[in-house]
Amino acid sequence: MKYLDQVVSEALRKWTPGFALNRVCTKDYTIEPKQEGEVAFTISKGCYVMIPVIGIHFDPNYFQNPGVFDPERFSDENKGNILPGSYLPFGSGPRNCIGSRFALLEIKAVIVALLSKFEFQFIEKTPVPIKLMKSFSMVVQGGLWLGLKRRT
Ligand code: HEM
Repeated sequence: MKYLDQVVSEALRKWTPGFALNRVCTKDYTIEPKQEGEVAFTISKGCYVMIPVIGIHFDPNYFQNPGVFDPERFSDENKGNILPGSYLPFGSGPRNCIGSRFALLEIKAVIVALLSKFEFQFIEKTPVPIKLMKSFSMVVQGGLWLGLKRRT
């Protein structure tokens, strides 16, 4: 199940359903400049903050070749290189997703159950490459069509 875990983790990086998180700032917080040309920026108490999860997941500073689907990012050898806070499919902190473990178990159980009886196949309607719709969540334009061929 290790490789399936890597595949699911990478799918949740590249097509993360919760592509932005939101928080309300509870006390003034200043982000100090780190490089020449940058200026300090203060997030004031009460301010709404959007955390662009999908932008972070596609930032080459955190994930090399971010457009490439590469489950090896999550192998035992490589997953230690993922910086804390850069992989956020289930959010972070005390209000992170309460159902994350259940969701991961369920996704894997469904994939295993289907793969034990069927092969997934591309069909004419399968969108290659996937194009996403402008929406509040990850929705594939025209739907995500696949063929199932019964295994013999
Ligand atoms: C792949 C499936 C799922 C994804 C990607 C997902 C993602 C998320 C994200 C990004 C958040 C916001 C976390 C934050 O703001 O830090 C969240 C919150 C939440 N999720 Fe999920 N979720 C999934 C499945 C589920 C399931 C199966 C359940 C329940 C059985 C669930 C229940 C919740 C609840 C109750 C919250 C609000 C937690 C709080 O505000 O304290 N989620 N989820």
